[in-house]
Amino acid sequence: MAGPKRKAELLPEDIGTDDCLTSYTHIYSPDLLKDQVAFVTGGGSGIGLRIAEIFMRHGCDTVIASRNLDKLKEAAKKLSAASGRRCLPLCIDVRQPESISAAVDETLKEFGRIDILINNAAGNFLCPASALSFNAFKTVIEIDTMGTFNTSKVVYDKWFKDHGGNIVNISATLPYRGQALQVHAGSAKAANDAMTKHLAVEWGPNGVRVNAVAPGPISGTEGYRRLGGTKAEAVGTFQSIPLQRAGNKTEMAHCTLFLASRASSYMTGAILVSDGGAWLTSPNDVSTLLGIASSKSAKL
Ligand code: HXC
Ligand code: NAP
Repeated sequence: MAGPKRKAELLPEDIGTDDCLTSYTHIYSPDLLKDQVAFVTGGGSGIGLRIAEIFMRHGCDTVIASRNLDKLKEAAKKLSAASGRRCLPLCIDVRQPESISAAVDETLKEFGRIDILINNAAGNFLCPASALSFNAFKTVIEIDTMGTFNTSKVVYDKWFKDHGGNIVNISATLPYRGQALQVHAGSAKAANDAMTKHLAVEWGPNGVRVNAVAPGPISGTEGYRRLGGTKAEAVGTFQSIPLQRAGNKTEMAHCTLFLASRASSYMTGAILVSDGGAWLTSPNDVSTLLGIASSKSAKL
């Protein structure tokens, strides 16, 4: 049935690689995060890199922190060149609290403050529960869930407890319907959503807000490639999403900016779903997902 013609949507600029935008139109005030400092885990690629970029384009300095220092150094150069703000690349493994502790000390030495923590680091792949090893399940829980707790606790103990701050966790909609082939990541993100609420309750009196963004399929990312996004798009699977398309990284960065800034000053403990309505209508059966899972990283 032909529906009414839709007005062309004004989507924010994006680019499918781990590069900065060649042009950017501000939606929020360019001074929204002026002279603040954000610590972004997994900020050297994908959604995390775009979050760092958009924050820097709003006046923020950033730390981007993950395991691969070469990748981070290259990303930091691009981010500073695009925004004119400072970006410090630091090596951490979110599974190792000592590595986070050293990076947070270095951040405070270099910038003198932390205003925002973005828990974006994660690991994922498609795998049926029956084929998942014990260590594979544990690995994803350790990166996604324990990594989020470890980083939040270190930043809270060293700075937020006495100065307040803003935490945004990057979640997913996988657990809402028990997404096929995703018991590891879905369980991890469900725990993170609970953690978001627990920490919001306990740390609110210290001036710390804790919220989350739950993206749907986001183009130009490792998650999209690993979870069969490119093939799903090609065979028209996204037509079943109410907004009939994948999201882009800049859209996720804008949601994150909203939660990390004074635009959301009375929000804490909230999970902001930004998925075009995908979780309500997208396919969720093992055979369909096995069909679209062309990613080389999927051990099926
Ligand atoms: C099944 C797998 C696997 C796969 C690894 N394992 N890849 N099992 N299918 N594709 C198993 C290994 O065999 C091993 O178990 C265990 O997992 C640990 O693997 P390692 O390679 O030793 O772990 P590590 O080096 O720590 O790497 C972590 C990782 C890796 C998660 C496995 O892929 C990674 O570093 N990922 C980071 C980038 C990433 O995943 N980005 C996408 C995020 S997207 P055994 O038993 O053999 O020892 C995302 C989207 C969410 O989160 C929602 C989307 C809608
Ligand atoms: P990505 O580029 O692979 O981002 C994950 C980042 O986490 C990488 O930069 C990686 O860097 C870092 N990381 C992984 N393990 C780490 C560890 N142990 N310690 C420190 N850093 C670690 O993938 P993405 O698709 O942009 O995903 C970003 C976030 O969005 C994730 O939280 C993901 O769950 C969420 N998400 C994505 C989608 C999507 O469609 N892409 C959908 C829903 C949710 P190093 O390799 O350098 O460590």
